[in-house]
Amino acid sequence: MIIHHYTDALTTAKAIAEDIFVRGAQITPLHIAISGGSTPRMLFELIASPEWRERIQWKNIHLYWVDERCVPPTDAQSNYGMTAESLLRHVPLSETQIHRIQGENDPESEALRYTQFVNSHLPLTEGLPTFDVVILGIGDDGHTSSIFPHAMHLLEERTPYVVATHPLGQQRICLTGPTIGVARRVLYHSVGESKQAILQAIVNKSPESLTYPAAYFTHKRTDIELFTDQALDLPL
Ligand code: 6PG
Repeated sequence: MIIHHYTDALTTAKAIAEDIFVRGAQITPLHIAISGGSTPRMLFELIASPEWRERIQWKNIHLYWVDERCVPPTDAQSNYGMTAESLLRHVPLSETQIHRIQGENDPESEALRYTQFVNSHLPLTEGLPTFDVVILGIGDDGHTSSIFPHAMHLLEERTPYVVATHPLGQQRICLTGPTIGVARRVLYHSVGESKQAILQAIVNKSPESLTYPAAYFTHKRTDIELFTDQALDLPL
């Protein structure tokens, strides 16, 4: 794992903004899958601010979602809704560059529609759609995308998007393991003290981390990156 450590959450967001959105989108089209939850909001507000907005080649960016809650886009739970409010309303991205998961649709048919969509819009690697960048969050129970500890089989599910269920029952549509595995770059964006213990366990590859879906990719590829504000003890 490649760890990028910064002093605080804002500096962490600035590092991702510079690396992925400014530098990464400079020349060629960049197909990025973004996560939801609360962590990305700071990054989105940052790159939507006038100072950063002008430095980004928005015409090269295509946005996709790692996961979506099965709610309408106007619902406070919607990952698209959060992104629209903090980012999309403020930047020159056209509708043809924003590929949202339609959380208001029937979950099974939407997972199929979105799977077919990414399969036909992205290059394929070993038959799987290949994102340039996948930005993942990490939940307090070690989940990533909407792959929760009770559904570890989704780490090996070859259909790119499937229906998943949050432990409290909410249905979601989520990107599965093998498609995350073939992305050109995969990074975790995880900040705040509440993530410290879980990040430390993942970095140490400790026995309990084997139950964390987020730890799975650190075993699969050594080039997975972590952008964090948490100081971690690195194994010798
Ligand atoms: C979601 C996500 C999810 C998220 C983690 C971390 O829809 O909730 O995409 O995988 O990245 O739960 O969430 P926080 O950023 O809120 O801690």
